[in-house]
Amino acid sequence: MKFGILVAIFAITLVSCQSNNELEDRVDELTKKIESLETANENKFKPGLGTLMNAIQTHHLKLWKAGINENWELANFELHELEERFVDVEIYHVNSSNIKSVKMIYPQLEELEEVVKEKNKIAFIKEYELLTATCNSCHQINEHPFIKIAVPIKNDENQVFTF
Ligand code: HEC
Repeated sequence: MKFGILVAIFAITLVSCQSNNELEDRVDELTKKIESLETANENKFKPGLGTLMNAIQTHHLKLWKAGINENWELANFELHELEERFVDVEIYHVNSSNIKSVKMIYPQLEELEEVVKEKNKIAFIKEYELLTATCNSCHQINEHPFIKIAVPIKNDENQVFTF
């Protein structure tokens, strides 16, 4: 009888030891998985604000060229690309103090969308000037007043490089 009890205790201890070991192995395995996911997340590509702004500058220029050539389909495409890049600015730089008032750009993009839909070149030029002014307002608010965006009337350039 006593022997029977001892065997039973031994068996229970053995089982619990085994499951403890299994549990430890599982915890180790999961810890490794979490660590590798964390590394993958840290290494994930995150476009810098400057990189996004350079893309925005290109779409701003292409939007102008499309509009003055009355290529409304292309103008509409460029407008949506612009919008997507500003959304990226918000997503990837959510904690940045450099993107204050970024939302000011959306109503102006919507105005442009309307005139592009109407295929109205004169209204397009006016709204494009306002868009450009909005870019510059944001640069001023965010301590980058020296980045002066311009309507690309001369030399195909949409930025003023002179002091
Ligand atoms: C959040 C407000 C905001 C708005 C709106 C905005 N910008 Fe910017 N822009 C910035 C900030 C901040 C920087 C500086 C980025 C940096 O530090 O790399 C910048 C930088 C730039 C640069 C310089 C990039 C370089 O590397 O030389 C260009 C060009 C530019 N913006 C174009 C535009 C254009 C065109 C628009 C409008 C269609 C626009 N931006 C609208 C905040 C804004």
